[in-house]
Amino acid sequence: MKQQISLFTPAQMGAITVPNRVFMAPLTRNRANSDGTPWEKSALYYAQRASAGLIITEATQIDPLGKGYIKTPGIHEPEHIEGWKTITRAVHAAGGRIFLQLWHVGRIRHSSIEPKGEAPVAPSAKKADAQTFTEKGFEPTSEPRALSKDEIAALVKEYAASARAAIDAGFDGVELHSANGYLLNQFLHSGSNDRDDEFGGSIENRMRFPLQALDAIIAEIGADRVGVRTSPLGEANDVPEENPKALYEAYHGELDKRKIAYLHSIEGFPGNDESNEKAELIKSVRKAWTGFYIANGGYDKATASKAIEEGHADAVAFGRDFISNPDLPIRLANDAELTKANQETFYGGDEKGYTDYPFATLGR
Ligand code: FNR
Repeated sequence: MKQQISLFTPAQMGAITVPNRVFMAPLTRNRANSDGTPWEKSALYYAQRASAGLIITEATQIDPLGKGYIKTPGIHEPEHIEGWKTITRAVHAAGGRIFLQLWHVGRIRHSSIEPKGEAPVAPSAKKADAQTFTEKGFEPTSEPRALSKDEIAALVKEYAASARAAIDAGFDGVELHSANGYLLNQFLHSGSNDRDDEFGGSIENRMRFPLQALDAIIAEIGADRVGVRTSPLGEANDVPEENPKALYEAYHGELDKRKIAYLHSIEGFPGNDESNEKAELIKSVRKAWTGFYIANGGYDKATASKAIEEGHADAVAFGRDFISNPDLPIRLANDAELTKANQETFYGGDEKGYTDYPFATLGR
């Protein structure tokens, strides 16, 4: 008889074996040091969450101009690699697995962020109707300039170098961030990409840079240690798309050909309304991918279990619940009560709302 797969069934995902399918979603917490090294306390924060089937780190910039918010970490300097080593060691010592999310914000940047005074870079010189988190709190993003073809080629190399740096830092793999309106998503979507060269216009052209970056990463560290994050609904950071169905059928299909470790899709955003049309879109673009699929966005134990049992997802990533429940898989397995996350300590601050959330006291 075929064994019923649940949230707690181990799985093979690319090069790694995961002991359960409750994954930790990437979560920016704005507590890194100003030189881009991760905060020392982040080793404890991530190690506390080592029971996750997989931890995906907070988004981490591959280039100084890839930084769009204060106190986010980088992976482009030797000191960054050294800093991350303390985190990967702590997670591995606690029995966990951890991928680094590779990030470039593109036009979601304010020019007061380090390196100060520099305009953001983007597919086109078109400002986003979005905000970013600066020393002054949330501020509108600055006017970007369009990247030259040489700069795109240089960024492709930087993606590969960052993936290598991540492996050197002890990560089990990397997640390429092509979601949520950041640089690669800006290239993918028609509303943020007005280019008339081979990086704009047709779907094939708009996918070119993200796929070149992915291929360079694969050549550097192998497809079985690479995942990609997508957000087909395009609801974050002002990236309208004229034909999301055609685009994401094509993009997910290209990812499928490359046999990467996983596809991780944001299927809905907390607070946004859910419609049948959106659910249909997610279902239809999901079909273009045949490998390991991580679903995310507003899941709880019941909906996540259903997604796994019905074969929609192979794992589910939890964001906010993992902020406030370091032992989330154990709590879900035991139907223990969940602690609610405090939004006020999401972005920036100290240990409060970071390393001080309680572990469950099961049956004691
Ligand atoms: C996020 N999200 C996010 N996504 C991403 O790809 N990289 C990131 O660094 C972040 N940072 C981040 C910070 C915080 C405080 C929140 C709440 C969210 C989105 C996140 O990974 C996830 O998609 C959403 O939280 C939805 O999942 P849940 O919370 O409904 O399980």
